[in-house]
Amino acid sequence: MATINQNYWNLKESYLFSEIASRVLSYQKAHPDAHIIRMGIGDVTLPLPPAVIDAMHKAVEEMGHAETFHGYGPEQGYHFLRQAIGDYYKQKGVCLLPEEIFISDGAKSDLGNILDILGDNSVLVTDPVYPVYVDTNKMSGRSISYAQANQQNHFLPMPDPHLTADIIYLCSPNNPTGAAYSRQQLKEWVDFANQNDSVLLFDAAYEAFVTEDLPRSIYEIEGAKTCAIEFCSFSKTAGFTGTRCGYTVVPLELVRQETSLNKLWLRRQTTKFNGVPYIVQRGAAAVFSPEGQEQVKHNIDYYRHNAQMITDTLDKLGIWYTGGKNSPYIWLKCPHDMDSWTFFDFLLENAHVVGTPGEGFGSCGEGYFRLTAFSSHEMTRTAMDRFYAILRQK
Ligand SMILES: Cc1ncc(COP(=O)(O)O)c(C=O)c1O
Repeated sequence: MATINQNYWNLKESYLFSEIASRVLSYQKAHPDAHIIRMGIGDVTLPLPPAVIDAMHKAVEEMGHAETFHGYGPEQGYHFLRQAIGDYYKQKGVCLLPEEIFISDGAKSDLGNILDILGDNSVLVTDPVYPVYVDTNKMSGRSISYAQANQQNHFLPMPDPHLTADIIYLCSPNNPTGAAYSRQQLKEWVDFANQNDSVLLFDAAYEAFVTEDLPRSIYEIEGAKTCAIEFCSFSKTAGFTGTRCGYTVVPLELVRQETSLNKLWLRRQTTKFNGVPYIVQRGAAAVFSPEGQEQVKHNIDYYRHNAQMITDTLDKLGIWYTGGKNSPYIWLKCPHDMDSWTFFDFLLENAHVVGTPGEGFGSCGEGYFRLTAFSSHEMTRTAMDRFYAILRQK
């Protein structure tokens, strides 16, 4: 008899977004005239930049002619895109070789797939956390400990000698909290990982949102190349959530048990992955052209403006929050000590605004709430006017 991977029995129902959808649906049914504004889900709303569209059109044309047609491409990605990413890292003062960069269909896949090349290790994640880190490890039966993030540590937990692990996940700027580590803080994590021979899995999906003088890559930190793998994505930077493209950096210096993780990852990818479509990679490469960079910056500035409207409103109301400055997420303390779901219902019923209850990202998220800056200016303005009106009175 075939058996199943029983680790799946240990997964909690991923109830968060389905519970949100069901509460919104029943409210909308009971109040058909309510104009509900959604500021909960982390998907972008602006279309792909014109430079990306042009590059993809050209690539489609190439695919229609025998002389320029592309079949299977290199599993680790076309050289033109890896080169463009390498040049982008140079602007951050980081030198990467093209063979250290692997193109993928997005950060989420690689965050899960990387576990193929790691052993039955102990795992450390932060709480609250992007749920993918937890569920992918539960699926492979690894034991997980949690570094508590809270207001005292500004939702940026630091290494704790009592909480060592073989695999450490960090996400900065963070989803869901929007908090971002400083150089000095990341240096402590890098030193900690090197001392313990851990591997740091660094999720930089939101690096393009950094405005302050904070690291945008873990490799800006001395010593990171001997302990860290970095995951990045075009999803939030350039609107690729539906187009699918990302990349993972595995430095050649990263060695465990006398084995290069870069070589293992290459072996894994060439065996289980056939690469990202040529058309998509051409589109991704256009993000790094001068026009592409300009257009991407314009879009990110648009979302930043929304984030500013949200944080201005919270400032006026005296509500504690983190995020917003270096991230499209704003993580706020629920007013009047409401728990996350009570505040969710309060906001839905009184302001017709939907956010994400912090409790859905881990027990330390209880009492907090996530708003995203991915809406339009008009929607964000209206939502914040309503938010202000109901909370000013309370
Ligand atoms: C922290 C974080 N990492 C990774 C991802 C996934 O990115 P991608 O769309 O490239 O799979 C997301 C998406 O929301 C995210 O928030």
